[in-house]
Amino acid sequence: MHLPSSSSFGKDFLWGVAIAAAQNEGAWNVDGRGPSVWDVFARRQGKIKGSAKPTENCDFYHRYKDDLLLVKALGFNVFRFSFSWSRIFPEGTGKVNKEGVAFYHRMIDECLQLGLTPFATLYHWDLPQALQKEGGWTSVHMQKWFTRYATFCAEEFGDKVKHWIVLNEPMGFTSLGYMLGKHAPGKTGLEHFFPAIHNAVLAQAEGGRILRKRVRDAVIGTSFSCSEVVPFTTKREDIEAAKRLDILLNRLFIEPTLGRNYPNEDFPLIDKLHLKTKAWRYTERMQFDFDFIGLQNYFSVTVKHNSLIPYIQASEVPAKTRKAPHTSLGWEINPESFYRLLKRYWNYGSVKSIIVTENGACFKDTLKNGSVHDTERIEYFKQYLAAVYKAKQEGVKIQGYLAWTLMDNFEWGEGFNARFGLIHVDFNTQLRTIKDSGYWWRDYLLSK
Ligand code: GAL
Repeated sequence: MHLPSSSSFGKDFLWGVAIAAAQNEGAWNVDGRGPSVWDVFARRQGKIKGSAKPTENCDFYHRYKDDLLLVKALGFNVFRFSFSWSRIFPEGTGKVNKEGVAFYHRMIDECLQLGLTPFATLYHWDLPQALQKEGGWTSVHMQKWFTRYATFCAEEFGDKVKHWIVLNEPMGFTSLGYMLGKHAPGKTGLEHFFPAIHNAVLAQAEGGRILRKRVRDAVIGTSFSCSEVVPFTTKREDIEAAKRLDILLNRLFIEPTLGRNYPNEDFPLIDKLHLKTKAWRYTERMQFDFDFIGLQNYFSVTVKHNSLIPYIQASEVPAKTRKAPHTSLGWEINPESFYRLLKRYWNYGSVKSIIVTENGACFKDTLKNGSVHDTERIEYFKQYLAAVYKAKQEGVKIQGYLAWTLMDNFEWGEGFNARFGLIHVDFNTQLRTIKDSGYWWRDYLLSK
């Protein structure tokens, strides 16, 4: 696949970088912020590599001016960030923390002054701990809490922020946080997973409606993770294993949003979900006509049948084992699979447009003499951008691409050692060093 100049994507194409509050802000107990589930989860032994804590992070809370200058200097025109719910509502609901709100105004104003389009995510995984105490995403009160939060943000920031993402990767936080226990809040089992899924699907649509009603000229989307799932062999049982995982990874959250309710296939786990949530009653409430669907792709997956794995009966055949190209987290690099996914999502027919709201890669970077020569990351971006371009040329309405991520940050369960940034961060001194990939982006975006 061939990568043409950035101007070939069109003059209105959105070029951005993304960050998230829990991964970048730090200042976890400053100016009235309440704890989030990640602050609490990180204190649990063995949950996060290197026992890393998201307390200081990249200190974006205090350094946002410098960091936004870097965004600008690298040539981007969009800045995606998320609101920290517990900075705005320390208790999750009820009293507003004025200082937290003031921070977001300062930061958004700075974006606007620099000519960067602020692109806000309402929820990027950092539920206030106060709400988790009451059950969090599994609670019957979740809709009420989310409505209050979303309404507040829409009214408070809607004059300045026009681009919105309601949820970041609902499959990510419901499966890792409420089924597998690998992410905050560390819950496991279907009794957590099902209500969390259903609440997320409902919140997603309701968030869309709230923003539509309260923000004039809003461009509203929500972001899904997606991964092509490939059967390891042509054996029927492997093909079926791949189909099951595909339902979970690629269809579970978008289809109700499009008005199709949860996928209806021969898959007992999903049958159970329909039954437990009485899903047939909610078809309309789960639907919202989003202006765009955010797609986020980090790997493709190859699977084979495995009867020992509960519910899904599938297990991954890692890229390493198959000697397929992969990043330092073992995630398969497969730009063609992303191209196919972009076409596939577009082929639903009712997706109005697509924005790649995250895409990027983790490699073992070394900082030496003030430089980071991350040629693999440059190669990665080139290949994935070429895939996006090809899909766009073939008629998929893709309106933007946001790279993950501006700078190395707190990578959830991987702590601070998994580096995805275009800018290197020394977490002891907070020194930023632009990596070669950052310079590559600057040249690519500014040379036209
Ligand atoms: C996404 C997530 C980001 C980031 C990225 C890299 O799933 O939205 O916050 O961590 O993965 O792992």
